[in-house]
Amino acid sequence: TEPLRIGIAGLGTVGVGVLRIAQKRAALLAARTRREIVVTAVSARDSSRDRGVDISAYDWEDDPVVLARRDDVDVFVELMGGPDGPAKAATEAALDAGKDVVTANKAMLAIHGQALAQRAESQGRVIRYEAAVAGGIPVIKALTEGLAGNEITRVMGVMNGTCNYILTRMESADLPYDIVLQEARDLGYLEADPQLDVGGIDAAHKLALLSAIAFGSRPDYAGISVEGIERIMIDDIRAAADMGFRIKLLGVARRTDRGLEQRVQPCLVPAESPLGQLEGGTNMVVIEGDSVEQIVLQGPGAGMGPTASAVMGDICDLARGSRVATFGQAAQSLEAVPSAKNGVP
Ligand code: HSE
Repeated sequence: TEPLRIGIAGLGTVGVGVLRIAQKRAALLAARTRREIVVTAVSARDSSRDRGVDISAYDWEDDPVVLARRDDVDVFVELMGGPDGPAKAATEAALDAGKDVVTANKAMLAIHGQALAQRAESQGRVIRYEAAVAGGIPVIKALTEGLAGNEITRVMGVMNGTCNYILTRMESADLPYDIVLQEARDLGYLEADPQLDVGGIDAAHKLALLSAIAFGSRPDYAGISVEGIERIMIDDIRAAADMGFRIKLLGVARRTDRGLEQRVQPCLVPAESPLGQLEGGTNMVVIEGDSVEQIVLQGPGAGMGPTASAVMGDICDLARGSRVATFGQAAQSLEAVPSAKNGVP
């Protein structure tokens, strides 16, 4: 079998993590997929920066769109981020040139996912995005593959580790929101635009993707009712604790009599439940299906190793010839309904 040739655009934390796995685990990956996986070309903003990984064996492209169209690239790996701009232009160029795409870009897919999926389909291509939701947790593979025999009734969870860090740290150290927000900033946890985290937007991007897969609907980011954690006070956390609850920023998508309901908001969860016990910058996704009942997946939702692990899992799937459609195959699509705001999942 011919090697699977990869082009990677974006050499930040995740891109470097992917190169490290590709270099360190080449033999293991080839044995598992029965196909050699070879990085042929890379692209990033700055070619001279020392990233702590050897990139001398790869061709350098300044322009990610040019990289995406190269004849010696079978799979375009988009790790630049941002909903529009070069990430979207290069993804479209790759699909139009007949390449499959692997991306970690939740914002791009939450907003443009339907159009990109149609573009992929018209070319007989697929877009894989395990790393876009809950970092290292293989929740998309769980929904599309392992749980394919279920009618999914509810998907919910903690999908933003930074908010979970802030809320748990406020409680354990008895500190106000502003102080802990500054700590999170100092630790480098916050997105460049912190509103993406604390405003619930990042969690909503992820929820839009999960519910599209779970319920066979198109990603409907605009239809999500979103409330962040900015107004949570230490007194709210104490009052919840007195009653045996914790406050968590949950994304919840569920099948109702009226259609699909999606919301991101601070919720009270029992302190003894798996969600209630989730500490620090971790993610947890709870999936309920008619046959499986309930499963709980927990793990790191960000960081070099975990996110690169998810990207490489997608690359391996493509090396094996998997053709799972971008948002799965829908037996039945649900209409979105206006969200109820009642504060419990
Ligand atoms: N800002 C995100 C989080 C990073 O805190 O979960 C991973 O998407």
